[in-house]
Amino acid sequence: MKSLVIEGGEPLSGSVPISGAKNAALPSCIASLLTEEPIVLHSVPQLRDVSTILYTLGALGKRVVRHDTSVSIATGGTLIPEANAYSVGQMRASFLVLGPLVARLGRAVVPLPGGCAIGARPVDLHLEGLRALGARVEERVGVVVVSADRLIGGTIRFPFPSVGATEQIIMAACLAQGKTVIHNAATEPEVMDLIDLLSKMGAEISVGNRRIHVTGKRSLGGAEHTLIPDRMEAATLLLAGAITRGSVSVSPVCPEHLDAFLESLRSTGVKLEVGETSITATGIARPIAVSLETSPYPGFPTDLHPPMSAFLSTAAGTSAIVESVFERRFAYTSALSKMGAHIVQDGTSLMIQGVDELIGQQVEAPDIRGGAALVLAGLAARGRTIITGLDHIDRGHANLETKLRSIGARIERREDSA
Ligand code: EPZ
Repeated sequence: MKSLVIEGGEPLSGSVPISGAKNAALPSCIASLLTEEPIVLHSVPQLRDVSTILYTLGALGKRVVRHDTSVSIATGGTLIPEANAYSVGQMRASFLVLGPLVARLGRAVVPLPGGCAIGARPVDLHLEGLRALGARVEERVGVVVVSADRLIGGTIRFPFPSVGATEQIIMAACLAQGKTVIHNAATEPEVMDLIDLLSKMGAEISVGNRRIHVTGKRSLGGAEHTLIPDRMEAATLLLAGAITRGSVSVSPVCPEHLDAFLESLRSTGVKLEVGETSITATGIARPIAVSLETSPYPGFPTDLHPPMSAFLSTAAGTSAIVESVFERRFAYTSALSKMGAHIVQDGTSLMIQGVDELIGQQVEAPDIRGGAALVLAGLAARGRTIITGLDHIDRGHANLETKLRSIGARIERREDSA
């Protein structure tokens, strides 16, 4: 079984490079379905979810060439409308191929998604949005069949600013006839990065106070684009410095993409130096407990709730985290408690009573961000922590242990036969 073995207690210090954003890379790769011409993406992180989406695009008829962190996606032959079950089952973001395929081909057959077990994560908003663009949507057992002679621009109002549903509808609307308006749209930096790429491809998109306007085109062209840095990786590595009472700098990073997180982290007493494209966090002996609630951008990101929870488990006092995006994002808390954290869950709220120290244990990562939380706890804990469930961690973090070792962490990957 694969595992990460961490000898905790070392203050981490130094500078760490940040990879391109996973959650910008996935929709941006999928945007290649909207054009016959080649798309070239730079700063594409080397992690499992990206490999999965590139595999999916290859199976749909695209020709994918990857060189380090650059990827070119061109037409390989005929584009086919059926996405294979393997990759969509592996990762929820693969479901985003639906809109582009039906926009290009008039028909798409896509399995219903799998992915992290952090909640029900239905796709009703994706399907309602496509219906609003005139598509016929047929839900069969395990797959959805969507067809339309040509999508027609329309008005969509999301009850919740869903990131994936927003990205799905923006991409479909780019080739629809006429104008589309999305109300209560997600405006996460990763969504805006997708819009940046689509605009370079010739799409006509404007954004204003949670409203996205798209004027459909007959076709889009190729483009070259560099993805934004991964703000979740940057924040997680800053927390690695804070939880070990060391000092860690991350770059490149867009500090404005992390305002809510940095405000909470500063409130704990952690010293922050924020530059144009870099951030340094210096830990203090006993951080101060804080309260926070996750919410859609620009609020505190739900993806940083687990890593922040690990950090707050060693703060002085009792912190509170309210998780308002995913109802089942708490699987990591049992492992954190096993390491000595005092966490009480009440519905979608956590009360975290800070302890003096965590103790190394053998624990299993339940999902991508829960895995990050356990790595942080292991870096701070007394003794050895063994973390299994690396499939989750590898889905969302490029070369995590290499980056951590470069700033002094005693961490290695084991491939035990057991
Ligand atoms: C994206 O997931 C991210 N994934 C998630 O990151 C992130 O946590 C999430 O946005 C919120 O920021 C990618 O970008 C690949 P949502 P997504 O649609 O699009 C409900 C990570 O670790 N909902 O904004 O799936 C849903 O159940 C991952 O990198 C519906 O009800 O998130 C959830 O409660 C984890 N119906 C809420 O909206 C729908 O049709 C937010 O989901 C769609 C969503």
